[in-house]
Amino acid sequence: MAKTTITAALPYANGPVHIGHLAGVYLPADTYARYMRLKGEETLFVCGSDEHGVPITLRAKKEGITPQDVVDRYHALIQESFEKLDINFDIYSRTSSETHKQTSQDFFLNLLKKGAFKEITSEQFFDPEAQQFLADRYITGDCPKCQNPGAYGDQCEKCGSTLSPNELVNPKSALSGATPILKDTKNWYLPLDEIQENFLNNYINAQKDWRSTVLGQCKSWLNDGLKERAMTRDLNWGIPVPVENAEGKVLYVWFEAPIGYISATKDARPNDWESWWTGDTNLVHFIGKDNIVFHCIIFPAMLHLRGDNYIVPKQVPANEFLNLEGQKISTSRNWAVWLNEYLEDLPNRQDELRFVLHSIAPETKDSEFTWKDYQTRINSELVGILETLQIGFWY
Ligand code: 2FM
Ligand code: ZN
Repeated sequence: MAKTTITAALPYANGPVHIGHLAGVYLPADTYARYMRLKGEETLFVCGSDEHGVPITLRAKKEGITPQDVVDRYHALIQESFEKLDINFDIYSRTSSETHKQTSQDFFLNLLKKGAFKEITSEQFFDPEAQQFLADRYITGDCPKCQNPGAYGDQCEKCGSTLSPNELVNPKSALSGATPILKDTKNWYLPLDEIQENFLNNYINAQKDWRSTVLGQCKSWLNDGLKERAMTRDLNWGIPVPVENAEGKVLYVWFEAPIGYISATKDARPNDWESWWTGDTNLVHFIGKDNIVFHCIIFPAMLHLRGDNYIVPKQVPANEFLNLEGQKISTSRNWAVWLNEYLEDLPNRQDELRFVLHSIAPETKDSEFTWKDYQTRINSELVGILETLQIGFWY
């Protein structure tokens, strides 16, 4: 019988988990894993904290602590909350682990030896005072569309436009306030345009049983035509690029984070981890809709290039978003029900939350959580119907 490897998106360790994450990713994944185990299927369910990426360094800077302090704090908080909610991971790992560093550097070197990357030198923004290259999020300036003075190099949060740093008016470094200059730097790119022709078009077109929302996004990326994408970045927080003369460069967080599923498997099953990633094992990724391109296009491309009988995702149940009391959940506006706070304020009410979030799971479209609806569903469905059924059964 084929094994099944189930993954749940690795949450960023820069804040607690909220009910949107639970409804869209962790509860459906947990329920599926429980179902598979009940059926007697050989199942492995892995997750862990995603501990790299620019937002973590920005948070550390804001609080005057190190990025490692930030991820240590939130990794512990998230892990404890998942345990209390009784999410049955086989392992909850983290991407700052030594296993993960080794696994992702090996993966990079394997692809490098195969000639999978293109080395490209391009001009990137550099802070002449801090003497470092600037990720897009580290550059702020006036939005060219709405003139908001606090727009980021990748996005204006006021008008929602996607930007690139060279579009900002009066760009400034978020590190020192200096005006950034352009400087040449070399990075390693995956030629996704070529991989699209050789593999991705066929792979995506063969997925007849994927959700239409997932296929819709994938096909729109493919129709637009994929472009080469950098798999390394000039940053000092992350996994060092394991080649000579690459000081100050790390693996792109979206290159190494999905490899975190493999690292977690190694830690959970040191003796037979490979059997969960090769052969006729089914790989199932539970994610939110904002992660589709990374799990349906970039990670499959990486696994395909890796070869050696590695599997590619068989099913990617990506869910839509959960809104809260009529508004989008927002971390920056603190508009969320945080799992750790729920567990403190409503102790021993885990099953109620699991029940309600399952009932309103945003599978095909965004859905809505309100406290009034939470109360009604518990009183009229969970207590009213389920208990009546149980009483009927007992007598
Ligand atoms: O969107 C997110 O929260 C990411 N941290 C998910 C990463 S999933 C996987 F690739 F690691
Ligand atoms: Zn704007």
